[in-house]
Amino acid sequence: MTDRYAVIGNPISHSLSPKIHRIFAIATGEKLMYEALLAEDFGSECKAFFENGGRGLNVTLPFKLDAFDWVDEVDASAQEARAVNTVVATETCYRGHNTDGIGLLRDLGRNLGVVLEEKRVLILGAGGAVRGVLGPLSRARPASLIIANRTVDKAQTVSSQFNGVEHVPLDALGTDYDVVINGTSIGMDGQSSFEGLIDQSIVEGAFCYDMFYVLDGDTPFCKWGREHGAIGVEGGLGMLIEQAAEAFSLWRGIRPSTKGIASAICD
Ligand code: ATR
Repeated sequence: MTDRYAVIGNPISHSLSPKIHRIFAIATGEKLMYEALLAEDFGSECKAFFENGGRGLNVTLPFKLDAFDWVDEVDASAQEARAVNTVVATETCYRGHNTDGIGLLRDLGRNLGVVLEEKRVLILGAGGAVRGVLGPLSRARPASLIIANRTVDKAQTVSSQFNGVEHVPLDALGTDYDVVINGTSIGMDGQSSFEGLIDQSIVEGAFCYDMFYVLDGDTPFCKWGREHGAIGVEGGLGMLIEQAAEAFSLWRGIRPSTKGIASAICD
């Protein structure tokens, strides 16, 4: 039977993961099937998938925490994030990993040439997306790593779980940042907006990276950054591709090249 892989989430129909992993499979000559699974109940869907030839899963919203609880063991990346975005079926158990942080760092560092060391880094948001990347970001040795979130309690809790991460209220952010990363979903509903909600001076002279992406044009955060003096803006498609490549290498033991994948997807 051909090895089966899938991305599991809800909603899932717009996921790019099947496309990305099929490109990886062709490029590496690996024989596998990759599909999208819409789940209501994470545990029962996972069980059925692995009982029917499943070898690995990518996990997306809203199941990263369910996956953390569901797997038998986790590696250090998932333990630190307390969330799982990749499940590997081993000979003896189901193991959870989190490849979001490495995906972000590879896109920033290797693809975009953004240096984090000794830089002042600000992250907006304190949800699962942000928790997944704080550990790897803090190990990139920025001069400061600050998180800010609408619900201050959440920012406080998250910052207390990571060494060297401070939290500052959204309305007291100051101005001097080199890199501003968006991990909120502001603007993605077509209604909420950064304008008037966060002082625009935070993005002036900073590189703006959005962990979310849209396939055509700028995300709301990138657009806002562009309008208010950011020195560069980038959406999160590269992060998605890099975290996928890391998952693929955990499953198949071979790391696919990520070069040219973004344009192949957008075609
Ligand atoms: P994920 O797991 O993808 O991070 P999430 O947990 O729903 O998703 O987090 C969404 C983030 O966007 C949160 O930080 C949320 O702030 P709260 O913790 O205060 O809810 C933030 N967010 C979403 N809409 C927002 C808005 N209109 N204004 C400010 N922050 C918003």
